[in-house]
Amino acid sequence: MNILSPELLVPLITEWIQGGRLIFATCSVLVALLSSVFLVAHFRTPMNLPPGPKAMPLLGNLLQMGSHPHRTMTAMHKKYGHILYIRLGCIPTVVVDSPQLIAEITKEQDNVFSSRPHMTFTDIVAYDAHDFAMAPYGPHWRYVRRICVHELLTPKRLEITMKERIEESRCMIMAVAEAAQKGEIVDMRDVFAGVSMTVMCRMLLGRREFAATGKKAKDFKHLIHELFRLMGALNLRDFVPALGWLDLQGFERDMYKLRDEFDEVFDAVIQEHRDLASGKLPGGKPNDFISVLLDLPGENGAPHLDDKTIKAITLDMMAGATDTSAVTNEWAMAEIIRNTEIQRKLQEEIDSVVGLERNVQESDINKLPYLMCVVKETFRLHPAGPFAIPRETMADTKLSGYRIPKGTRVLINIFSLGRSSETWKDPLKFQPERWANENLSAIHDMGFRILPFGYGRRQCPGYNLGTTMVLLTLARLLHGFKWSFPPGVTAENIDMEELYGCTTPLRTRLRTIATPRLAPHLYSQ
Ligand SMILES: *[C@@H]1O[C@H](CO)[C@@H](O)[C@H](O)[C@H]1NC(C)=O
Repeated sequence: MNILSPELLVPLITEWIQGGRLIFATCSVLVALLSSVFLVAHFRTPMNLPPGPKAMPLLGNLLQMGSHPHRTMTAMHKKYGHILYIRLGCIPTVVVDSPQLIAEITKEQDNVFSSRPHMTFTDIVAYDAHDFAMAPYGPHWRYVRRICVHELLTPKRLEITMKERIEESRCMIMAVAEAAQKGEIVDMRDVFAGVSMTVMCRMLLGRREFAATGKKAKDFKHLIHELFRLMGALNLRDFVPALGWLDLQGFERDMYKLRDEFDEVFDAVIQEHRDLASGKLPGGKPNDFISVLLDLPGENGAPHLDDKTIKAITLDMMAGATDTSAVTNEWAMAEIIRNTEIQRKLQEEIDSVVGLERNVQESDINKLPYLMCVVKETFRLHPAGPFAIPRETMADTKLSGYRIPKGTRVLINIFSLGRSSETWKDPLKFQPERWANENLSAIHDMGFRILPFGYGRRQCPGYNLGTTMVLLTLARLLHGFKWSFPPGVTAENIDMEELYGCTTPLRTRLRTIATPRLAPHLYSQ
């Protein structure tokens, strides 16, 4: 997750410059006021902080970030080193990009670095930090995380829900086969977003759509897009608190609107689950995450979890599982189609394990080491998000000999980590073979050279589900079809630039031609 969204920053500055007299007057007063605060603060600047570029009063280094902050910071690492200190508005921020520093933060000093910054987004959209991804370190976070790890994302529950994932990948294959038959171009972003969304809706809510029975389905893709936009948005209040009450950018208005939309669906779904469990509605109790959550005791001896916590957990799981896996799949597919040799090797591997008489099952995916290499290489070169979700220090500490005060925001630059020429030979080349001699059954890289799911207390508890979804989807698509680019698109001219945001998808949607390679009856099974 990132904290800046330049496409929002530029309009913001323009607004400032072109803004009405009221805003201008307010700003002048505030700038004067804050400059004096800054001067005082400046005198108190503690020594021996990590190196970094000079910061402006009030805005700090915000304006230097440009349209691709992860690339800007990568360039700063080249100049200042693996650890760098910047100020985003008034927020002191440390950015790191080396395996050693990441291990220090997520392993050796995990106890110091395990909180999350307070953000308006968390208050409004993530239900006052009642979730686990954005919640600050503390008893509530521990309680909710334990539920996720021991009740929801357990190996047993993953096994129970396997049927749903297989059914949804079958729907995906059928839709692609239909497009192929008509000679249509396949929009891979729609394919991947669709399958990850229906899988998660079924696992969490017990239905394919983001709606309660009989209610109109919400445009879930739009809501998730809005969620990520607002999560990544530079909300002025979070960086320059003195100006926040203005809500110049209208983000907070949009956040409340988004929360209301999620609320509407969650409230209806929760009520329906209660009615099904009590027999008020026929059909019996569904076997999904909401049902599990409704049965659990709450904190401090409460008989049940409160609705706010149930909704916050559900939202985290939706947000955490859908976009990230879809983005990873789209990048992997783009690289696979660009490199015909890679596609050939993958299909050879899948054919040798699965054959041509049946479809890929989840039990096959552990037997596909080359596919795992491709996915790891995608994690390295095209991480789903440029930064890990920001951490915050809970006490004064030291990193690499530098002083890191309590309350410092910590960004792990995963993008830079995967492209460092100190760690990787030919870092910009997509070479799955570089993983061939590694321990492929370990999802976490013990050398901290990639960090797809984080590590330590703040590790993503859904790493198993996420990896399974990515591998199964790719295996099915590659077994079922031969893939190529539409006329005019080649390995050389395809747009491989990323779009900056909380997640970094391809700037241009991946469009492909699929050619079936199995007997027709296998596309409807
Ligand atoms: C590989 O990783 C798995 C899972 O983390 C672990 O159980 C196993 O011991 C590792 N094998 C080797 C040879 O390191």
